[in-house]
Amino acid sequence: MEFPNFAANFKLMSIDEILNKVGPSTGSGTLTQKEIKLLLSTAGEDKKKLFDRALQVKLEHLDNYVHLRGLIEYSNICTKYCLYCGVRCKNLKVERYQLSDEEVIECAKLAHELGYGSVALQSGERSDKAFVDKITHLVQEIKKIDNGSLGITLSLGEQTEETYRRWFEAGAHRYLLRIEASNEDLYYKIHPRDAKHDFKQRLDCIDSLLKIGYQTGTGVMVGLPFQTLDDLANDLLFFKQKDVAMVGMGPFIPHPDTPLWQYRDQIPSADKRMELTLKMIAVLRLMMPEINMVAATANQTVDPQGREKAILAGANVIMPNLTPNEFRENYLIYPDKACVKDKPDECQSCLDMRLAAIGHKVLYNAWGDSVAFTRKNAPK
Ligand code: 5AD
Ligand code: FES
Repeated sequence: MEFPNFAANFKLMSIDEILNKVGPSTGSGTLTQKEIKLLLSTAGEDKKKLFDRALQVKLEHLDNYVHLRGLIEYSNICTKYCLYCGVRCKNLKVERYQLSDEEVIECAKLAHELGYGSVALQSGERSDKAFVDKITHLVQEIKKIDNGSLGITLSLGEQTEETYRRWFEAGAHRYLLRIEASNEDLYYKIHPRDAKHDFKQRLDCIDSLLKIGYQTGTGVMVGLPFQTLDDLANDLLFFKQKDVAMVGMGPFIPHPDTPLWQYRDQIPSADKRMELTLKMIAVLRLMMPEINMVAATANQTVDPQGREKAILAGANVIMPNLTPNEFRENYLIYPDKACVKDKPDECQSCLDMRLAAIGHKVLYNAWGDSVAFTRKNAPK
């Protein structure tokens, strides 16, 4: 006797079962590594079910709001040389810049005028005293705009606990530090193995941020050379275990002036990396229904509809670039970055339209904090 559809039926059943564990109102969010891998491997109808369920869970917990962070790329001066990053200090082709205090404050004021509610200050990594003092000052100045009405996210790499604390006390309350790869072996395939690129130190930094009380965000690149499905599943379990408030994930995009460029033929196609990123977002939304998840610009670089697709897969944050246009060409972490030529106000109307087309809307004039974080820290 033959059961031609046995395999298909079995798989279909198990996907339904897995999804039912994490459906709306279950509040469970608990998935095993095996279940995550099955979800990340879905195709056809099963894949659609995954995305539908993730959107349903997001809408139930967070509604159809998208939060904006006006991105200020403060400087591309970096002391590190990660093997994937276009602004690594060993890339001598990059023209280095640092915005003036006035330029940063102008960007922040623009974010406020546009109703973004929050800014994200991002930079190549430096930890010298002049830099630490400068950031402290800038955070304080941004806080002065309309009596502290702007939320501030920092994304300035690894720092000492003391520095993180200073910036927190100055008024920053969210910090993004992607782990990049939660598997130590993989971490050292995409970073040099030296004192400047130490996996344990990265973990310690994330722990310090959590301890200090930042809404802490982390994340990984998807589709890296040597990365396996096990790695990706474990990345999601890592985010859950750390109970982070925010996650950013985007497809890896090989940069010609970096060492990882040589592996560009050994990674999944751009379409596959994009699809895998979307599945990672969807599965994580099921596991952590109330965190903030960013639709990273890298998604839009790989696919013009990438940001919308990420929102529909479960993301709820977008970071429109407010860096003055003349500097953006120099902040090319990866090639062909999206929106490098757009003006802020063009970005704005374009965004509103694009989001309306997929049934979402920007929540203007709000910090848009992570609901997961707010709930965890609410007075009992
Ligand atoms: N492709 C995709 N993302 C990248 N990043 C750095 N280089 C690349 C690349 N080549 C991501 C890293 C970093 C964030 C600022 O940008 O994850 O944390
Ligand atoms: Fe600048 Fe990695 S290259 S932090």
